[in-house]
Amino acid sequence: MSHWSARFPRVPLCHRPTPLEPAPNLSETLGTPLWIKRDDCTGLAFGGNKARQLEWYLGDARARGADTILITGAVQSNYVRSAAAAAAKLGLAICVQLEERVPNTDQAYQSSGNALLNQLLGAVVRSYPEGEDEAGADQALDAWADELRREGRSPYVIHLGTEHPPLGALGYVEAAEEFLAQAAALGLSGGTIWLPSGSSHTHAGVLVGLALFGGSDWQVTGACVRRDAPTQTERVLATTERLARLLDVPNPVAPQRVRLVDDTLAPGYGRLNPETLDAMRLFAQKEGLILDPVYTGKAAAALVGRIRAQEALAAPVVFLHTGGTPALFGYSDALFSFLTD
Ligand SMILES: Cc1ncc(COP(=O)(O)O)c(C=O)c1O
Repeated sequence: MSHWSARFPRVPLCHRPTPLEPAPNLSETLGTPLWIKRDDCTGLAFGGNKARQLEWYLGDARARGADTILITGAVQSNYVRSAAAAAAKLGLAICVQLEERVPNTDQAYQSSGNALLNQLLGAVVRSYPEGEDEAGADQALDAWADELRREGRSPYVIHLGTEHPPLGALGYVEAAEEFLAQAAALGLSGGTIWLPSGSSHTHAGVLVGLALFGGSDWQVTGACVRRDAPTQTERVLATTERLARLLDVPNPVAPQRVRLVDDTLAPGYGRLNPETLDAMRLFAQKEGLILDPVYTGKAAAALVGRIRAQEALAAPVVFLHTGGTPALFGYSDALFSFLTD
């Protein structure tokens, strides 16, 4: 039987496998063995988890003969920046819609980090005034695609809404398979995988991949970065169902396997809090590891908080570093003030 992935068109965008490496200083400080799965090292324009996901969207786009990719996200979205890089690599045009999802932003937020990289990568940028209107953002992208069609172009839209097939999650089914091979070679089993949970493609992909490839001895905890835990639990579960349908298998993920914590979400998506800044400083100063303020910093803060509160987590803990590091520079003023205070 051919490998499951052969059924879906894809384009290669990533360095793979990404390293799975120990974090000895953090392990000592936190009193629990901690490993890092380095998906910040996927290689495409500063790396990150979205490169794995985009291989399948861009594969689908190419199979359909698209000449232009459209995508929507926050001004400092890593997904948007990664899509712009992928499109550039494949010789496709890229149209990006940047949502005002974060209130009271400063100049750095609007023009540094990922916003700067979008310009460098040649994206055509439009602004969208709403931040929490997923359906509206998708509709605006579809309307933009219609405009392009009238001009004779062949657009391909990467939607946010959960009604569309979760092609991106295929990247994390594969990443789970990759991780299990690495863990077996290192003699690691039965631990906890800790990851940030946003669109849910990473989280659902990992859960499905572990279930399909013999990794059910690993627990998975998602740290909420955008929605509260009950809402995100529903979203992840729904994505596992749609992903199983895409793979043409019964959903292998039992609802009780979907675990979310929202301890460090406040005050909201893309907004800093002291625990996140502390965790970013801890990872940097103990391991030389750079986290971002929107996703990995919040996930690390939730993990550190739980360990310090002596919550029993199955060991070893594997922190999935999903990248996002360019956003650091979009938050440079706030971060600099905190660090020099
Ligand atoms: C750096 C980073 N980590 C994690 C996530 C969340 O991943 P997902 O959207 O697959 O849930 C994102 C989403 O944009 C991200 O950019």
